[in-house]
Amino acid sequence: MEPSRETKESSPAAVDGARPFQQLQQKLKAEAATIGVVGLGYVGFPLAVEYAQAGFETIGMDLDPERVRRLNEGDNYNEDLSDDVVQRVVSADMLLAEDDFERADDVDVFFICVPTPVTEHNEPDTSYIESATRSIAEHLRPGQLVVLKSTTYPGTTEEVVQGILEEAREDLQVGRDCFVAFSPERIDPGNEKYTTANTPVVAGGVTANCTALTKQALHQVVQEVHTVSNPKVAEMEKLLENIYRSVNIALVNELAQLTERMDEVSIWEVIEAASTKPFGFDAFYPGPGLGGHCIPVDPHYLSWLAKRHDFETSFITLSARVNEEMPFHVCRSVTDAIAHQPVALGDATVLILGVAFKANVGDTRHSPAGT
Ligand SMILES: NC(=O)c1ccc[n+]([C@@H]2O[C@H](COP(=O)([O-])OP(=O)(O)OC[C@H]3O[C@@H](n4cnc5c(N)ncnc54)[C@H](O)[C@@H]3O)[C@@H](O)[C@H]2O)c1
Repeated sequence: MEPSRETKESSPAAVDGARPFQQLQQKLKAEAATIGVVGLGYVGFPLAVEYAQAGFETIGMDLDPERVRRLNEGDNYNEDLSDDVVQRVVSADMLLAEDDFERADDVDVFFICVPTPVTEHNEPDTSYIESATRSIAEHLRPGQLVVLKSTTYPGTTEEVVQGILEEAREDLQVGRDCFVAFSPERIDPGNEKYTTANTPVVAGGVTANCTALTKQALHQVVQEVHTVSNPKVAEMEKLLENIYRSVNIALVNELAQLTERMDEVSIWEVIEAASTKPFGFDAFYPGPGLGGHCIPVDPHYLSWLAKRHDFETSFITLSARVNEEMPFHVCRSVTDAIAHQPVALGDATVLILGVAFKANVGDTRHSPAGT
């Protein structure tokens, strides 16, 4: 039988092993911990800048040499970050980037922020998490905390991250010597009101020590950290957030298609009217389909996991079907409109305004405009 979380940490071996825990606690308290951010994209780059701004020496690690070069030159490539801030933390030597994990030994707290796409069969592709964890595993030492932030299916942190780290260093016990947790990312590119500091985050560690250290590390840059009993709960809650959006967007997309067939009923007026209810209703708006790295992808992670539990997630399947159909619905509507114009379909030129998945962002991944 697997030892309980409490037994693991209060076992005799843990008594002398309590030192790595306390050492990291002290380092974080003294702002002397070195932060390592693996993956310098939409999630990792802003996180690295936050820690550097908060006074922590921060090392960004990315396989993309172009990103590494630009960051080290203080050349900002994220539209939500201020050029001044990036230049300031880089020139103050608070943030540097590398593509070879050479400085990984110095890192006390790693955040893994690598992509989690799906395969051509819509199954989870955890290969980026695996390769990032392997790179960390080569440098693993007592007193390090590894926090996975990439969105993924419940079980990944323990099966993949903890599994790879324990295989690489059988002498190190997670929860006693080194620490592993999941804390999903909630960054909302383009959102000026909710930033890293004022968006509460969720964290769940493999053991209570892992959770405590993760909470302490996150608290350096985030005001509110909500802890949960294990990584799987944190992984699942992130999927709930994104599936909630996907399902509600699908609902309103379906109603939009219905109202298009009705006389004198505009979906926009309907939503505006429903929004006057101060409780029990959150407005979602129809659109030409889903885009970005999260909402079109993440629900598939849970459908795949559900199959492992011999369970069918009908809401996810249905909402994906409705949302994925939207670009085709838009095309049909445009084709119908052209048919009423004095131009042959083959001669018509269509201008598409807006390629990213939402206003004022540059992320064109999975954009319905490209369907
Ligand atoms: N983009 C968002 O708004 C957002 C919001 C919440 C959660 N997330 C989740 O965060 C994760 C990262 O998303 P993103 O949008 O930042 O991705 P991204 O593609 O913008 O950035 C990922 C970076 O990781 C690097 N990388 C890949 N494998 C690596 C490895 N083995 N070692 C080092 N670097 C590696 C890539 O070169 C890339 O620069 C995903 O799981 C995503 O679902 C994204």
